Amino acid sequence: MNPFDPTGWSTTDLADPYPIYRRYREGDPVHLGAHGTWYLFGHDDITQVLSAPYYGRNPSAAGSTVIPPAHDRLRRMVENWLVFMDPPRHTKIRALLAKRFSPKMVAGLRPRIEQIAARLAKPLRDRPLVDLVDEFAAPFPILVISELLGVPDDRLGWFREQAVTLQEASSARSRRQPDAYARAERAANELTAYFLAEADSRTGTGEDLVTLLVTARTDGEALTREEIAATCVHLLTTGHETTTNLISKSMLALLAHPHLLGELRARPGLLPDAVDELIRFDGPVQMVTRWAYQDDVVHGRKIKRGDKVVLVLGSANRDPSRFDRPDELRLDRRAARHCGFGIGIHFCLGSPLAKAEAEIALRALLAAMPAFGLAGEPVVYADDLVFHGPARLPLTTGVH
Ligand code: HEM
Repeated sequence: MNPFDPTGWSTTDLADPYPIYRRYREGDPVHLGAHGTWYLFGHDDITQVLSAPYYGRNPSAAGSTVIPPAHDRLRRMVENWLVFMDPPRHTKIRALLAKRFSPKMVAGLRPRIEQIAARLAKPLRDRPLVDLVDEFAAPFPILVISELLGVPDDRLGWFREQAVTLQEASSARSRRQPDAYARAERAANELTAYFLAEADSRTGTGEDLVTLLVTARTDGEALTREEIAATCVHLLTTGHETTTNLISKSMLALLAHPHLLGELRARPGLLPDAVDELIRFDGPVQMVTRWAYQDDVVHGRKIKRGDKVVLVLGSANRDPSRFDRPDELRLDRRAARHCGFGIGIHFCLGSPLAKAEAEIALRALLAAMPAFGLAGEPVVYADDLVFHGPARLPLTTGVH
């Protein structure tokens, strides 16, 4: 089979990568793709790797590098992101944050999340044409995470621009944009300065996440300023791009399945389970990466220490050995067993928040747009399978 290489995929392939995944899952499920990277497509193989302690997040521990040495500041920031840490440090920082993202905390936040959704959905009721990404799907989770961090909500556009710049450095686009790392480093510096000023303004009381990070102690020690700022940037970026894409892609999936859209309109109580099935069917994070810290054998293929291994979660969620008729979107399956939030120690910290946000957003959007449809322009996907979703989503609302 041709080496798997999503760089330069057409927008059609990006919008529907599942037939491609299927070919590899059936023909070469542990596949050596372009640039010497392994791609895993089968559910059980992916679970095996994500559950093993000898695969990790740190390329230098495996004898490799990703961010060029010239961008040391960027590398240092990213190494302070929970998702790129290995134990034992990962265990400590995760424990610190976990209580703020528990289902109980999220239940307490619901009224505030509902208010934010209602505020953004209201103007959609009067407009014949909207860009759902710009007008709802992106600002909504940024406003929610700003609230949690305890920072003012007047920086929406700036937060989004900086987050997109950071994300571009990790995506397929960066290979065609030589200055992507330099721009990402500038964004990292500006966001760091912003969050350090926020941290300096805290008095030590307050329920917000910045205060939590400033006052936290692990093994009796405070977090460094670099760790505090990096964690804020991580929560800001990870906490919104995924949810933005989930909202947009869920609306697209429902448009393609009008009978399910009708059912959800009639019975919004089905929404919590529907959100899990929507994540299984077309999740916002299509793949995650690990580095092999020792030699291993997966499905008979020899993976060497230092190899980069990409786990295609979007393919695992369509694996027929795990899900009956996986290419069907159905509201009656127990989709919570999906792996759209990852597997193992890095399982998404924000999953209860993400699910509540998506449910509240869809409820508000279905009410605000009783007859929405595609605006006739092709839906253009961002050139990225890690953060997977449309860059813009023009919709008619049914209002004239
Ligand atoms: C980790 C998906 C929303 C915070 C992850 C991982 C996935 C994921 C797949 C694992 C990455 C890996 O194993 O390499 C999603 C999806 C979301 C979503 C599909 C929305 C539908 C959120 C939100 C937040 C968040 C709203 C927080 C505000 C995190 C954090 C981690 C993480 C902090 C790292 C956890 C760790 O390393 O222990 N997410 N996420 N996510 N997610 Fe999410």
